[in-house]
Amino acid sequence: MAETIKDLLQGNVDWVNKTLAKNPNFFEKLSEGQSPQFLWIGCSDSRVPATEITNAMPGSIFVQRNIANMVVHTDSNLLSVVYYAVKVLKVRHIIVCGHYGCGGVQAAMSNEKFGFLDNWLMHIKDVYNIHRNELDQISDEQKKLDRYVELNVFEQVNNLAKVSFIQESWEEGEFPYIHGWVYSLKDGLIKDLDVSMNSNSSLDSVYKYQD
Ligand code: CO
Repeated sequence: MAETIKDLLQGNVDWVNKTLAKNPNFFEKLSEGQSPQFLWIGCSDSRVPATEITNAMPGSIFVQRNIANMVVHTDSNLLSVVYYAVKVLKVRHIIVCGHYGCGGVQAAMSNEKFGFLDNWLMHIKDVYNIHRNELDQISDEQKKLDRYVELNVFEQVNNLAKVSFIQESWEEGEFPYIHGWVYSLKDGLIKDLDVSMNSNSSLDSVYKYQD
């Protein structure tokens, strides 16, 4: 485990040497440009690195991470990343990947104050409110948190589908597909929630754009 800045810089040199030993043209090739097929929206949690857990090479995944993998429609940082990925890179898939044991979701489920963070957690609390009927019925706290994590991913997939320029892409073709996944810290495996979308058909009519 890296503990110091020196560890990170030494780790970088070690990684370059290891990479070049396997593929001498690695950096030459990658420096020519990127054409990733995937956009990853994940949690900032240090234990859920997109390329590592999918065994994907640099150049494969365009990445945006924040606390609890949220899609907030006033977040110009996230929306700029999504816009660039969809309109310019033309990624075929957007993956919202949450993870069980997410501290952000756990914090949102509690009634504790977390200072400035409360404003961010509010968006996660709103997800609880949407799914209150289901979540309130789960008495086991661990199971409730697990299901809350899943439902949060589902709502973020929906939030992406509500974005006008994504609906615009769907009018032109089938891409991008939006997927909802949850990663397990306990065994390293990803669960596909089977909530993929590539049309606005399941959205409430108020969210459907027309030309
Ligand atoms: Co998390």
